[in-house]
Amino acid sequence: MDPFIFHNPTKLIFGKNQNKQLAEQVNRYGKRILLVYGGGSIKKNGLYDFVISELTSVGADVTELAGVEPNPRLSTVQKGIEICKKEQIEFILAVGGGSVIDATKAIAVGAKLDGDIWAVIKKKAQPTGALPFGTILTLAATGSEMNSGSVITNWETKEKHGWSSPYSFPAFSILDPVNTLTVPLDQTIYGIVDMMSHVIEAYFHRSEDTALQDRIMESILVTVMETAPKLLKDLANEGLRETILYCGTMALNGITQMGLRGDWATHNIEHAVSAVYDIPHAGGLAILFPHTLRYALDEKIERHVKLAVNVMGVDPTNKSDKEVALEGIAKLSEFWTSLGAPNRLADYQIDDTQLDKMANHAAERGAFGNFKKLEKNDVITILKQAL
Ligand code: NZQ
Ligand code: ZN
Repeated sequence: MDPFIFHNPTKLIFGKNQNKQLAEQVNRYGKRILLVYGGGSIKKNGLYDFVISELTSVGADVTELAGVEPNPRLSTVQKGIEICKKEQIEFILAVGGGSVIDATKAIAVGAKLDGDIWAVIKKKAQPTGALPFGTILTLAATGSEMNSGSVITNWETKEKHGWSSPYSFPAFSILDPVNTLTVPLDQTIYGIVDMMSHVIEAYFHRSEDTALQDRIMESILVTVMETAPKLLKDLANEGLRETILYCGTMALNGITQMGLRGDWATHNIEHAVSAVYDIPHAGGLAILFPHTLRYALDEKIERHVKLAVNVMGVDPTNKSDKEVALEGIAKLSEFWTSLGAPNRLADYQIDDTQLDKMANHAAERGAFGNFKKLEKNDVITILKQAL
C-alpha cells in the first residue's frame, strides 16, 4: 500500500435520539450562529422547530440561510458568505443533506477568505481558514458529514467542481437515524447508489497489498446490498435506516482509502453531466458507472474479478476473467435498476446535443482518473454508450 497519514477531526455523534446533543455541542463555539438548510424538508418533519428551540435555549442569536439547492449553487454560497461577514457569524450549523453541508463548507471557508471563493473551488487559490461549523445530517448519501469535500455548481458557467481543504471538516456531525425517516423513496435510492459508488471508486485503485482495505470496502458494499432492498420496502424502519446511515458515512470518511488512491473518474464525468443538466448526482452515477467500468476492463482485470466474485456473487468456475468481470458489472447495474435507479441518460431526457460540452468540462483539468486515464474522447465514447 502507499504510505499515508490519516487525520479526521470530525466528532461523530451517532445514534437514535442523539439530536439532544446539539445544544451542548453548539455552545462551545459562540452565540452568533448561521443556520443553513435546504428547501424546507426540515420544516415539514419538525427538525427545524427542534433546532430553533435548542439554539434558543442556549441564548444563540440565529440568522438563517434557507433554500440551498440540491446541487448547491455558487450564488447561494456567496449569499451565505456575505451574511457571515455582515452579521459577524461565529459558527455555522448545517441541517440537511450533502448539498446543505457542501454549501456550508464553502461558506465557512469563504467567510475567512480575502477573495473569491470560486477561485478556491477551482483550485486556483488556497483557503486561509474557516469559520467552525457543525452538521445535523438528514440524508444518508454523500459522506460529506465526515469528510472535507464539497461540490459546488456555478450555474452561470455550467461548471460543477469538487474541492476540499484541511479547514472544511465539520467540527461535529450529529447522525440520528430518526432524522432520515422522512427521506422519500427516490432520494433513499439515490443515497444508496451514491454510497456504493464511493466505495467502488475507491475499490478501483492501483495499489498492491491492500487486503484489509479491500475487505473493508467489500463489507460495506455487501452490507448496503443486503440492507437496501429491505429498507426500500420499509422506509420507516429505524434499524435499517441506521445501518444505511452508518454505511454512507463509512463509505467516504477516508477509512476505505487509507494507503490507496481511488479512481474517481466516474464522479468527475457525473459532475460534468449534472452541471449541464442539473440531474440528481446518484442518478447520473447509476447510469454512468457500468459504462466506465466496462471501458476500463483491460486495466488490472483482477480488480474487476475481485469485485465480481466477492461482492456481486459471480461464480468464476469455468469462466475467463473477462467473462467474470462483465458478469459482475451487469449484476451491479441490474441491482441498481432493481432498486429503481435510472440506467440510461435518456431517462433524464439527455440526448447527444451537449456531449462535447460535458466532455470538455470533465477533461477541463486534463486527463483524469487514477485507474484508467481518461481524456475528452474517452468521455464522449462513454457518454454515447450511456445514451
Ligand atoms: O432541500 P430539502 O428540502 O432539505 O430536501 C432535500 C433535497 O430535495 C431532500 N431531503 C434531505 N433530507 C431529507 C429530505 N427530504 C425529506 N426528509 C429528509 N430527511 O433530499 C433532496 C436531496 O438533498 P441533497 O442534499 O441534494 O442530496 P445528497 O445528500 O445526495 O447531496 C447531493 C450533493 O452532494 C454532492 C453531489 O454532487 C450533490 O451536489 N456530493 C458531495 C460529496 C461530498 N461532499 O463528499 C460527495 C458526493 O460524491 C457528491 O458529489
Ligand atoms: Zn458521490
